[in-house]
Amino acid sequence: MTDNTSLLFSLPKHVGIIMDGNGRWAESRGKIRLSGHKAGVNAVKEAITYAAEKGIERLTLFAFSSENWKRPKEEVSGLMELFTWALSNEVQSVHKNNIRLRVIGNTEKLSRSLQDKIKDAYELTAANTGLILNIAVNYGGRWDIVQAVKKIIAQKGTSLELDDITEELITENLNECADVDLLIRTGGEERISNFLLWQLAYSEIYVTDVLWPDFTKSDFEKAINSFMKRERRFGLTGEQIRKSDN
Ligand code: IPE
Ligand code: IPE
Ligand code: MG
Repeated sequence: MTDNTSLLFSLPKHVGIIMDGNGRWAESRGKIRLSGHKAGVNAVKEAITYAAEKGIERLTLFAFSSENWKRPKEEVSGLMELFTWALSNEVQSVHKNNIRLRVIGNTEKLSRSLQDKIKDAYELTAANTGLILNIAVNYGGRWDIVQAVKKIIAQKGTSLELDDITEELITENLNECADVDLLIRTGGEERISNFLLWQLAYSEIYVTDVLWPDFTKSDFEKAINSFMKRERRFGLTGEQIRKSDN
């Protein structure tokens, strides 16, 4: 007999992942932190493959926060080299898998060569119709809201009226407009760390102690299964939600 219960609950359309724990993974093996970031690249590939196979519409991966610049210089430069390398190596396979790749974040502060690779990857994959993959690099949720407000003011200029400012208008001007349905954080910390603040307003949160380099498809599957069992209420009562489901 097949188990039909999972058919009653839908997949998350947009999954965000705070890929944390690379440093601890490396330190527990007596290695330098950068080797944890390198090991994390395989977990990134596995998560992307899983999301694409599963039919998830959007995946946003937090790779480098606006606060991560404060880390030791060698770690920051090693991470930047790793992004450049991973982007060059993976873009063809991303494209072959019909994935649209975008880097969200303040890319102006990144090296010229990384910015060029980001632009090339975006242009190459822009017409693809499969998974939308956002990599958040030099991203901060507060920065995203501030840049949205600046964009609005720049567009509307002095014709801006108070009533023009709506939640929809701010949403439309964010780097990623879609609400996150499921937020996964590896590495066990129960915090948002300035990820997609606005878009996380009603996300379901799943924290696992698994460190990012150890995160497999089956860990991803566990998070999805946990999501599918939950009742999302969006401020309503459970009874209202159950009635509207029928
Ligand atoms: C997450 O892993 C990757 C980045 C922030 C770039 P960490 O490097 O934060 O790993 P821990 O939290 O120190 O273990
Ligand atoms: C969040 O992890 C950023 C990324 C995963 C890229 P951090 O390791 O930087 O978060 P905190 O400092 O523990 O909050
Ligand atoms: Mg960390």
